[in-house]
Amino acid sequence: MKNELCNLLKNYLDELDINEIENLLEMPTQNELGDYSFPCFSLAKKLHKSPNIIAENLKQNIEKSLDKTLFENVNATGGYLNFFINKEYYINKVLKDALDEDFGKSNIGMGKTICIDYSSPNIAKNFHVGHLRTTIIGNSLYNIYSKQGYNVVRINHLGDWGTQFGKLIVAYKNWSSKELVEKNGIAELLRIYVMFHDEAESNPNLMDEARAWFVKMENKDKEALEIWKWFYDISIIEFNRIYKLLDVEFDYNTGESFYLDKLQAVVYELEEKNLLVQSQGAKIVDLDKYCMPPCLITKSDGSSIYAVRDIATILYRKNTFKFDKCIYVTGMEQMLYFSQVFKVIELMGYSFYNNLIHIPYGLVYLEGAKLSTRDGNIVYAEEILNEAIKRALLTIEEKNPSLADKENVAKSVGVGAIIFNDLINTIIKNVDFTWDRVLNYNGATGPYVQYTCARAKSVLRKSNINIDNISFNAKNLTDANSYELVKLISQYPQVINESANKYEPHFIARYALLLAQTFNKFYHEYSIINADEEVKNSRLVLTYITQKVINDAMSLLGIKCPEEM
Ligand code: ARG
Repeated sequence: MKNELCNLLKNYLDELDINEIENLLEMPTQNELGDYSFPCFSLAKKLHKSPNIIAENLKQNIEKSLDKTLFENVNATGGYLNFFINKEYYINKVLKDALDEDFGKSNIGMGKTICIDYSSPNIAKNFHVGHLRTTIIGNSLYNIYSKQGYNVVRINHLGDWGTQFGKLIVAYKNWSSKELVEKNGIAELLRIYVMFHDEAESNPNLMDEARAWFVKMENKDKEALEIWKWFYDISIIEFNRIYKLLDVEFDYNTGESFYLDKLQAVVYELEEKNLLVQSQGAKIVDLDKYCMPPCLITKSDGSSIYAVRDIATILYRKNTFKFDKCIYVTGMEQMLYFSQVFKVIELMGYSFYNNLIHIPYGLVYLEGAKLSTRDGNIVYAEEILNEAIKRALLTIEEKNPSLADKENVAKSVGVGAIIFNDLINTIIKNVDFTWDRVLNYNGATGPYVQYTCARAKSVLRKSNINIDNISFNAKNLTDANSYELVKLISQYPQVINESANKYEPHFIARYALLLAQTFNKFYHEYSIINADEEVKNSRLVLTYITQKVINDAMSLLGIKCPEEM
């Protein structure tokens, strides 16, 4: 409709090109201002006439040639030209499109590859709420880009290498045992890691020992690598429990250690390209010119560090996956770090540095002490997810005790609540987390949207219809509430594109919420099942499409909508 309108307007506007016309077109929120408005203010200067007169003149000309099958009416008010869509035509078109199984899919990304580096927790450290965020955001971006036809490569860049392992080995040998690690897993590794730092304050030798163990690891010492691999396996078991709760999978679990044999080549290349500078025994890339601190490449003892592993990773991914974009989802404290690394890639002469994208997210603020479990301030993501599921189950027991498959529904609701809360705002914004708000069935929450979707599904079940055997008549859906739903449904493909272009799932989360709210208005206002046959069928089709789109939008966020709640 928009294209039709742009072409129509273009016939009367030599002053503007078609893109300018498209950019000017608005979709007014007040129904009496039509479905599309064209503001004449910017034309006023060019034509030396008032916006009112321009709008009035345009109206008189356009009115004569207006295709009434598309637009019912056009009027001019306050310097705007307002177009009223032929509702029946429009409803027919939107609902037919939306009934298609592929509604929302596109081929924008056909033949293109996007790598997403997300989750990426650190071995032997707890999977904290920050890691939960990157996992949730990355997974949603994966769903969104897949919907657009991209080939998406999901990479879990595990933090499985670095000096911390030297410390851990020393700590393990001094203060832990096989039994304790086996019994308590990451919690035990964390305990001794914290202990190492406390002890090292009074005993600096410990630091030297740790460094020596890390150098041993880098030199492939058998004992060092055995302990490392054991800690690795233990950590992965715990991480996998979380991925299972979230239903998240990866194509590659290639962590930092995967790149070890590719680091020397990077150092040579940097040297060859005259980018390396010696600084107190270490090697750095000077970024002073770009107002950034230097990027450390190797340490004075020759051991590798995070940045050089990331540079090697980028070159490897470019060669292996030939990505069109490589996206990193991490906390915002790594913003400077990624600017440095991307700058080094640019200085190395790789023009694709432009396709490296860092998506930083805000912090999570958790309510009171309740969430700060076991080890003081350490909050385990797994405990939060399990607590959410437990609370969701309690609500079900209270509200709908006879529900079938309660455990699974509680899982979808509890986990969905956490995911929705993470994705409802722009990524960079900090997340406030309180149980009452996150799990509230009446708030701007996941459970509210899921509940609405279940309500729509229940209407469909009760009506006993087979959606393929009934048809709608657009005439029955021209009232304000139904029409509002239709308009919203028509926006779904655009909302997906917007989320994809801006790396922001929140457009989809907000959209799902709005669609749910709008459906609830419709549901409360009208009787669906008890209406006359033709009206009933039309409303049922609209109900069917609404729940289908809500379901689909939620699945892009990584949230399941249960049949019943
Ligand atoms: N392991 C890091 C952390 O927990 C995140 C890694 C992000 N990805 C990367 N390629 N550097 O903070």
